[in-house]
Amino acid sequence: MQTVSSISLAGGQGKTTMVLFVARLLAAKGHTVLAIDADPQSSLTTFLGFTVEPDSPTLLEVLKKQVDTKDGIYETRYNNLFLIPSDDALDTVQDYLAGSGTGALTLGRRLKSVAKLFNYCIIDAPPQRSQISLTVIGASDGLMIPVEASVKGLQSLIRTLELINELKEEDETFGGRVLGVVPFRDRWVGLRRTTESESNIESMKQITSQWFEEDLVLPSIRESEKFKQAINRGLTLHEMGQEDLAYPIEVLVDKIYSLDGKHDKS
Ligand SMILES: Nc1ncnc2c1ncn2[C@@H]1O[C@H](COP(=O)(O)OP(=O)(O)O)[C@@H](O)[C@H]1O
Ligand SMILES: [Mg+2]
Repeated sequence: MQTVSSISLAGGQGKTTMVLFVARLLAAKGHTVLAIDADPQSSLTTFLGFTVEPDSPTLLEVLKKQVDTKDGIYETRYNNLFLIPSDDALDTVQDYLAGSGTGALTLGRRLKSVAKLFNYCIIDAPPQRSQISLTVIGASDGLMIPVEASVKGLQSLIRTLELINELKEEDETFGGRVLGVVPFRDRWVGLRRTTESESNIESMKQITSQWFEEDLVLPSIRESEKFKQAINRGLTLHEMGQEDLAYPIEVLVDKIYSLDGKHDKS
């Protein structure tokens, strides 16, 4: 199982959107996918049309080891796609993780027992620097960083890269690789990118090049109502007939394949 998380330290950056479409595309290609909602706001759980029943285990109970990990995993309405859901009670896990001393390793440890059951695990992270975001990054082989094409987005990018770097410096065994930075809500008018998007994406390239030698800024997710419509209707972008809009998701899936050298099944 390869574990990939979507991380960006601000709200509205496209984290949940990216997890949803990447997980659904991998599942549609025939891979078995475990999606994990690690944000107490539980948008991913909602986007997947899943309702947490009272007293049924969620990521909270899995992290606290109150249940076996497999008992926190549910089928979704989509083939090959499974979910460890969350609800707002997940926030209470922060103290538990902080108190354990090795909180950054907790999620990775809990996933070991189910690693043989899934090809990919795709995790949605919360928008702040917290014990939860640390354990999500600690569990990841690959990191996808969505960044809104705005000033707020650039600040989020810098905070996120700083956090990843701190983790690398603290722990040499940390193996999470940045798969790419994905500009989110890139605005175009007709055939032209707006000057605002243009300059923000240029800044993303400059910031990223200060940390990495390769160009990690990937094809952008365009500003489009189609994404919201697809989310609300439970459809993939391909099912909506939006092949062009799906291109950045395809590129991400290829990056995820590059983690294990595996190729497209379909
Ligand atoms: N391509 C898009 N263009 C405009 N808005 C989008 C697009 N894709 C998703 N959205 C909307 O943007 C909002 C923020 O995205 P989300 O993925 O929830 O960000 P985060 O998880 O980082 O907070 C959501 O309400 C979502 O419906
Ligand atoms: Mg979110």
